[in-house]
Amino acid sequence: MSRKRSPKVPTRDSFVSDQAEAYQGARWMARLQHATTLRALELLGDERIGGGIPREAKREGAVLDAGCGNGFSTEVAMQAGFPIVVGVEVSLDMIKLRHLSNPVVQADMARMPFRDGAFSFVISISAMNFLSQDIEDAAIARQVYDGFARRVHALLTPGGRGVVEFYPKSPAELDVITRAFGSRSGFQGFLVIDKPGTRKEQKFLVFRKRAA
Ligand SMILES: C[S@@+](CC[C@H](N)C(=O)[O-])C[C@H]1O[C@@H](n2cnc3c(N)ncnc32)[C@H](O)[C@@H]1O
Repeated sequence: MSRKRSPKVPTRDSFVSDQAEAYQGARWMARLQHATTLRALELLGDERIGGGIPREAKREGAVLDAGCGNGFSTEVAMQAGFPIVVGVEVSLDMIKLRHLSNPVVQADMARMPFRDGAFSFVISISAMNFLSQDIEDAAIARQVYDGFARRVHALLTPGGRGVVEFYPKSPAELDVITRAFGSRSGFQGFLVIDKPGTRKEQKFLVFRKRAA
């Protein structure tokens, strides 16, 4: 009788060395990240944060792809009409696997080294949750996500929009994250849960920086 292995929860170590190559080579992963990024880009044009993005605004506004990995999400954004995408990625092994020529900075998402107001759009696909991977203390997790939300807020132009898709490790962490991007953060936004209660459930934070 074959024994089913329980799926391994990815950690930051899942994106170095051979594991980076395995990520790049897994066709199911490429398909999943492609579909997830398309959904995130659809939500970026949601009525509740201003509606469809004009072609001109897409062409001229810079997109930050936080935790861009080997470029699956970046490539989808570029193909969707956003030619200026800047990636941030902590793993050099993932960066080395990219075949794209857009700029990418090796840095921690918690400390993104750009000037304030540099971006019109922010996307982050399946990456933000790694910020709290080693953190058990809820107060520290709150500080981390409050700090990340503040940094994203600073990097966006007024009226700039973002979508973050993420996998919180508990309902408490989901609460911490939604509060970090909540009304006191200077964003207007909402949480979307696709396929709730199933193995394919996905969570997207969708937000817009309030104009000053
Ligand atoms: C599941 S992959 C997603 C990559 C890409 N967004 C995609 O759609 O394929 C998560 C990525 O986040 C990166 N990552 C994890 N923690 C990070 C951090 N603190 N700062 C920057 N990147 C981080 C990992 O190295 C990995 O490349």
